[in-house]
This record gives sequence, C-alpha cells and structure tokens, in this order.
Amino acid sequence: MNNTITTIDLQKAVELLHAGKLVAFPTETVYGLGADAANPEAVKKIFTAKGRPATHPVIVHLENQEQLSAWACKISPLAWQLAQKFWPGPMTLVLERAPHVSDTITGGQNTIAVRVPNHPIAQKLLHGFGSGIAAPSANRFGRISPTCAQHVSQELGSAVDLILDGGACTLGIESTIIDLSSATPQILRPGSISPFQINSVLGEQTLSQGNPFIRPRVPGNLLAHYAPQTLLQIVPETKLKPAIDNALLTQQSIAVLTPMAAFIQDTHVHWYSMPVEPVKYAHDLYARLREVDQGEHTLILVTEVPETEEWFAVADRLAKASTQGTR
Ligand code: TXA
Ligand code: MG
Repeated sequence: MNNTITTIDLQKAVELLHAGKLVAFPTETVYGLGADAANPEAVKKIFTAKGRPATHPVIVHLENQEQLSAWACKISPLAWQLAQKFWPGPMTLVLERAPHVSDTITGGQNTIAVRVPNHPIAQKLLHGFGSGIAAPSANRFGRISPTCAQHVSQELGSAVDLILDGGACTLGIESTIIDLSSATPQILRPGSISPFQINSVLGEQTLSQGNPFIRPRVPGNLLAHYAPQTLLQIVPETKLKPAIDNALLTQQSIAVLTPMAAFIQDTHVHWYSMPVEPVKYAHDLYARLREVDQGEHTLILVTEVPETEEWFAVADRLAKASTQGTR
C-alpha cells in the first residue's frame, strides 16, 4: 500500500469531513475512524459503520490544547498540567462537557473524552479541518484495533469514505484514558503513559490506588473487547507445556504467542515469537493477534506478561482479548 499522503489527499479528507463523511486516519496509537464532531448526523455514521451501540461515547481529537475550552468546561489546573506535559501524545482526558457537545459524542453522559494526537498526518488533518474530529478506533465493535491502513479496510471496507494511509502506528495500543471529571483522578484505560508518569504530574493528588485494571463506569469499557474471534487463553510460562499437552487432546491447531523459545515440535503447534520488551510487545500485539486470528488456529495460547507497571497496558488488553462470551 502507498503510504505517502499528499496535500491533495488531505484536502480531500477535509472536504469529506465537512460534508459529513467518514475518514479513517493514523494516530500514534491506532487508526481512528473520524467524523466532524460538531455534526451529530456524521457522528452517527461512525456508530453504524462500527456496529457500536449508541451509548458508547467517542473521543474528540483536537489539534492543540488551545481548542480544549471549546469542548470541555470546568477544566482544572491539573487538567492543564497534564495537557501541557503529555499533549500531543497518547493521553485522553475525560472532563465535563461544554454545553453544545451533542449526546451522540458523549453517549448521553455529561462528560467528554478529548485528546491531541501526536502524528503528523493526524495533526495536518486536524489543522486543515480546524475543529474537533470524533474518532473511535477504526475497527468493528469489540474487535482488535487497527494499527495499519490495511486493517482498517479489512474491518470496515466501503463503510469508510477515505482511508489516509500513514503506515504502521508507532505505539500500537490505545491511549491512556484519565478521568478528571470527579474528585479523584482515575485511570479508565491503561496505555503507554504509565500511572507513574501521571503521578509525577499529579503530585500529592495521586491516582486512586489499587488495582490498575479498574472496571470503570465507562460503557465502552466492556470486559471483552479488543478480542480475536479465536479462543484465547493466557497461561503462566511455567504452565505452558502442560497447557499445550492438554490442548493437543482436543485442538487441531494451536498458536502460541510467547517470548520463550519453541520447545515442542508438533505440526499442530505454531510458535509466534513475541518481544521481551513492553513497548515493542505493545507495538506488535494487535497485528500479531490479527495475523493468528486469520489462520486456521482453533486456540491461541499467550504466556503471561510480567506484573510490573510498564506491562499494565499490554496485560489489560490481553485480559480483554481472553474474555469470551460477552462480545
Ligand atoms: O488511542 C486512542 O484513544 C484511539 C485513537 C483513535 O485516538 N481511540 C480509541 O477510541 O481508542 P475508542 O472509541 O475505541 O475508545 C475510547 C474509549 C471507550 O472505551 C469509551 O468508552 C471511552 O473512551 N470514552 C469516550 N468518551 C468517554 C467519556 N465521556 N467518559 C468516559 N469514557 C469515555
Ligand atoms: Mg476501540
């Protein structure tokens, strides 16, 4: 695929957005499915294209933090500090919504999620458009987020009017979502920006402690999400051998995703090497899941990742990918 975006492509994208159409575009995290955030009819098309329930709010993407006051209100000094530190970048803030923001964006909640992406094409698109672009990840509801343009066309096909191809996303995992709309800041979704980095800005007013895999009130944060169609199980490295032996009794084709060296040679077992380093692992994860999901595998076994903070986002996505039955 050609991933050189021309000025003409960008002009076309801006025109389509103004005309209420859908444009998929790259960000540093994953590809977004964009529509004019000020046009509820256009935003509704996102929900139809994704098969996403109307109660699930979408993130509004902005060119810079100066645009924040047009979309949110009661923006605390803390929110400005976080924006200053991490924007443009993989951080989404949930704030009280400005009065004009439509229920189609917020899913009827009184809050809005906003982010300033750090990607040259997203930035140019936002600059050319001049206002907020509503964009969830450009995948069918509940499925794996796309990390390259080809994934977007596989997921959405002709439901999207234009795909801006910016090649593979550098981070590969969705933004960290921080809820600042209530007294205690809370991470609703872990991402590349860690609780440690956030706390370094929050200072005394730290994030709510405890389990980072908070089950928030966010309708979009279902237990099963980011999920392949093939059954996926997470196993500790020490239990991988018995898990494979057991699976061989019933499964035709087992995909094993692990940084470990292959130790069973069997035509029914297919080894896929995963990086040992969390940033690289996050970068590869969705493309790898998509690849194994397209094969003939009947089971995906993934070895557990470390419990340290730098692995939180990956562990969260694996947990969601392994949850069956509610998608
Ligand atoms: O990295 C990302 O955040 C990507 C790129 C495209 O920017 N976007 C993304 O959007 O992951 P989406 O829609 O797939 O996930 C957004 C999450 C959902 O879980 C949604 O429920 C939550 O953000 N969200 C949106 N608005 C919210 C709000 N007002 N309050 C709480 N959560 C909200
Ligand atoms: Mg998504």
